[in-house]
Amino acid sequence: MQERLKELQAEAIQKVTQAVGLKELNDIRVAYLGKKGPITEVLRGMGKLSAEERPVMGALANEVREAISTKIEEKQSELEEAAVQAKLAAETIDVTLPGRPVKVGSHHPLTKIIEEIEDLFIGMGYEIAEGPEVEQDYYNFEALNLPKGHPARDMQDSFYITEEILLRTHTSPVQARTMEKHQGKGPIKIICPGKVYRRDNDDATHSHQFMQIEGLVVGENIRMSDLKGTLEVFAKKMFGADREIRLRPSFFPFTEPSVEMDISCKMCGGHGCSVCKHTGWIEILGAGMVHPNVLEMAGYDAKKYSGFAFGMGPERIAMLKYGIDDIRHFYTDDVRFLKQFAVEE
Ligand code: DAH
Repeated sequence: MQERLKELQAEAIQKVTQAVGLKELNDIRVAYLGKKGPITEVLRGMGKLSAEERPVMGALANEVREAISTKIEEKQSELEEAAVQAKLAAETIDVTLPGRPVKVGSHHPLTKIIEEIEDLFIGMGYEIAEGPEVEQDYYNFEALNLPKGHPARDMQDSFYITEEILLRTHTSPVQARTMEKHQGKGPIKIICPGKVYRRDNDDATHSHQFMQIEGLVVGENIRMSDLKGTLEVFAKKMFGADREIRLRPSFFPFTEPSVEMDISCKMCGGHGCSVCKHTGWIEILGAGMVHPNVLEMAGYDAKKYSGFAFGMGPERIAMLKYGIDDIRHFYTDDVRFLKQFAVEE
């Protein structure tokens, strides 16, 4: 019996040593140490032994069991470790390989133009102001000297949400809001870039949503010559020092007098061509001296304070500056168009 146990131990240990997988190891465990295994079988036969032999044999049997299971456990950790190592080796990544290039976008041409205009005015001491795109009829029209039923409201076909709320048709309501906030005190020097909306059919020169930049200066002794000087600096910095400007009389309900500013055509040097419709001049923006009614409605004493304002469309400016022929290009996000404005930044 003793012999048999020793044999079983040697046999089992050899099999364990040679085992190549966890499944095989488990099969060996069941075969040798399980209830139906040979060791259990040997132990069952212990009843036939004498009282002196029995404890000796019992101890030996336990030793054999112990030795086999220790060996199995050792082998198990060895196999598990090998499996982990194999997995790690299989999943090794070469961190030195170059990555896939990520496509990098660039600033939208409109964003660029707006930032350029902002920088130019910030350099002249202006601050940036913003207002809501969903606006009250009061700020969009009434506070700008356009009472309900005023015919000039037709100049700006509007998207109304309720009787009193609409999508702003221009950035001029930010003027009214800023003046109201200053509670009748100057000075104010702001520009307000933002989106505006009109009930227009989209074509090469119209878009139902576009952008505007509004400017407003309020203070004591602000004159038309200040407006003209400011616009001249703007035009020359934006389009080149060799460009001339001219102011033409115009009408806006919120300014008096009102003007439109043209710049001399770069294409033909002012002689007339198809770009300037043979006039030598290109219209850039609307402007004027803030109407006393607008000042008074915002709480200013129009005898003490005066101001000038202007409004321009950055799309138009970008179109002229870059020779873009269709306003829709700004909004259709065609990468072939956008790519042309990508510069290394
Ligand atoms: N709000 C005008 C428009 O959308 C543009 C404009 C003209 C703004 C004259 C002004 C201004 O501030 O003084 O057509």
